[in-house]
Amino acid sequence: MKRVCVIGGDGIGPEVIAEARQCVDAVGVKIEWIEAEAGLACRGRTGSYLPQATREAVQRADAVLFGAITSPLASEDPNYKSVVLELRAMLDAYANIRPARNWGQPRLVPNLDVIVVRENSEGEYNAPESVDAEGVTTMRRISRLGSERVARFGFDWAARHGRRQVTCVHKANVIRLADGLFRDEFRMVAKDFPALVTTEALVDSCAHDLARDPKKFDVIVTMNLYGDILSDLAAGLTGGLGFAPSGNYGARKALFEPVHGSAPNLAGRDVANPSAAILSAAMMLEYLGSPAEAQRLDAAVRRAIGEGRTVDAGGSLGTQAFGALVRRSLVRV
Ligand code: NAI
Ligand code: MG
Repeated sequence: MKRVCVIGGDGIGPEVIAEARQCVDAVGVKIEWIEAEAGLACRGRTGSYLPQATREAVQRADAVLFGAITSPLASEDPNYKSVVLELRAMLDAYANIRPARNWGQPRLVPNLDVIVVRENSEGEYNAPESVDAEGVTTMRRISRLGSERVARFGFDWAARHGRRQVTCVHKANVIRLADGLFRDEFRMVAKDFPALVTTEALVDSCAHDLARDPKKFDVIVTMNLYGDILSDLAAGLTGGLGFAPSGNYGARKALFEPVHGSAPNLAGRDVANPSAAILSAAMMLEYLGSPAEAQRLDAAVRRAIGEGRTVDAGGSLGTQAFGALVRRSLVRV
């Protein structure tokens, strides 16, 4: 039996993760759940954002299902280190997949289906900064290994999922050495996948084209900061953060989480959309070796979105009611 460490976190995190977990149980995959805590409320209770017991639970698990965490204000805790970044680093989760699909909403781009594969361990998000009298310098590092492994992950993923095209997104016309290295590693890996069409785009023009004609893209492989921004853009095309799932993959473990944060404005009111969390759980099932159940859950969410809407999608269903609708839909797919 696979072991999953489940961390609800803060705000709407526990609400949407509870629905995702019930959906996994309902689809019939036997999971040993290890409950663990982390985040701002956890610090209030235990004195730590990421207690030792949670670290150990993560180490014991095959995968982590994670909600969201509220960051303290800089004035509350100037030394705060992001818990999510720390978890990703613990798992050496170097590749971040964010699918942007139209899961059945009529007013959006029909058949939208773009996968952003984002390098998750280097670049601006893992860069020391130094301050001097005139300003700040950020030491952005791009390595050959980091670039090669995320490119290979993207191509492998594309090949396994029957995709046709992989696009490398960079800004090597200006940031010649670092972005050029990323692009060159991508080109080397591409040689091992002759069946896939390979294209390249500059990040600014990719943003333009994603907004205008997203069907130009299939699988996008890109650097950390660009991937963060482009995947939010793509999520916007799918109806918003309530519909944006993600997986963070390391060599031996992976962490699955909705892209959204803890949405304190919605917390405790049973109004958050659990779709992103449930779709993240479906990605987790595929990772854990249950691809058929993953597809059934994905299809059930699609069906539920066609039948009932949460508040963010212009409807009135609550978090729990929508989760229940997904589970009822499972019976029929
Ligand atoms: P957010 O993603 O929590 O919310 C942004 C907007 O989207 C809000 O209007 C919210 O109501 C809406 N929204 C988010 N998820 C939704 C859902 N499932 N259903 C319906 N509407 C949804 O981002 P925000 O407001 O910038 O951050 C809130 C807190 O979350 C902050 O403390 C931030 O640091 C943290 N955060 C944590 C993340 C994580 O743990 N992975 C990621 C992003 C933010
Ligand atoms: Mg983001």
